[in-house]
Amino acid sequence: MNSLVIKATSYLREGKVVAFPTETVYGLGADAKNPQAIQEIYRLKMRPSHHPLIVHIAQMEELAEWACDIPQAVYKLGALFWPGPLTVILKKAPGISLALTGGQESIGLRIPNHPLALALLKEFGRGIAAPSANRFGRVSATTATAVQEEFGENNSFFLLDGGQCQVGVESTIIDMREGTPIILRPGAILKEEIFSIIPKKIKFKPKNSPRVPGALASHYAPITKITLISSVPHFLDQESPRLPCALLMRGKRVLRRKKNIDYVCMPPEPKAYAFMLYQTLRDLDKKNYHRLVIELPPNEPEWETILDRLQRAAT
Ligand code: TXA
Ligand code: MG
Repeated sequence: MNSLVIKATSYLREGKVVAFPTETVYGLGADAKNPQAIQEIYRLKMRPSHHPLIVHIAQMEELAEWACDIPQAVYKLGALFWPGPLTVILKKAPGISLALTGGQESIGLRIPNHPLALALLKEFGRGIAAPSANRFGRVSATTATAVQEEFGENNSFFLLDGGQCQVGVESTIIDMREGTPIILRPGAILKEEIFSIIPKKIKFKPKNSPRVPGALASHYAPITKITLISSVPHFLDQESPRLPCALLMRGKRVLRRKKNIDYVCMPPEPKAYAFMLYQTLRDLDKKNYHRLVIELPPNEPEWETILDRLQRAAT
């Protein structure tokens, strides 16, 4: 066993917080059954206490420890997508603390697909509650350096470095309490993929529900103001920025130089784009641009999650 995983486990056993990599983004984890440790996550993240945490587990057999009335469809989805970027919302089991669930009777559960996350979960042998390792409302961290920048160097938590997260955007969250998926947050797994397994109508959650902060209009936001544009040539024709801005577009293009505009090439393909997105926003945030101008992705299913995150970052 990796000695850093053993050290991280001892932190968790002492009720301390461990930042760890998952395939989506870094998590800020603690023993999900230790109320003080949970409090510490909320304090570090500066997150309002009514926003629930996802509990990360090592295997499906553990679901029943946290949830009750689990529909069969959950096991079907789990068999296909776990370990992986899918979070299911279920009815919480009777003994589970409301402090963990933001005062709600439901609980979010997922089995992450990262070797260090799985090693940590197995070594610890208990559920790890973990929100994304960023301050409330900010861009999620996809590298250990980004976690450090987010919280500062002198922190009480242990940071397990697992390199850059391969997926780069958060898990898809589905409410499965009725046995039929309701998408609460689009994520790394497309709704079409879920739909192909559970062939029932997928409802989208009505807007303005307070339950999922990842669903707040303004979230995943860098400090620099973002403007979304639908056409790069149109923008270049119409605007002559007076202050420096970065223009993020999909794929390489030969464009004329224009004063106060730096071109940033993003990958033309959605998975590669997702991998780069948060790190690019963080890097650009450090460069004192007046604005980040971002070309909207096409209105296609594979781009849905990226579009969602861009729109929230721009709000
Ligand atoms: O990919 C991910 O999901 C990452 C990694 C670390 O696993 N985690 C993550 O956690 O994005 P967080 O806390 O930043 O976002 C999780 C979302 C929150 O918006 C939270 O409100 C929602 O999940 N959530 C958690 N439990 C819930 C519940 N019982 N009911 C409704 N929403 C819930
Ligand atoms: Mg988050």
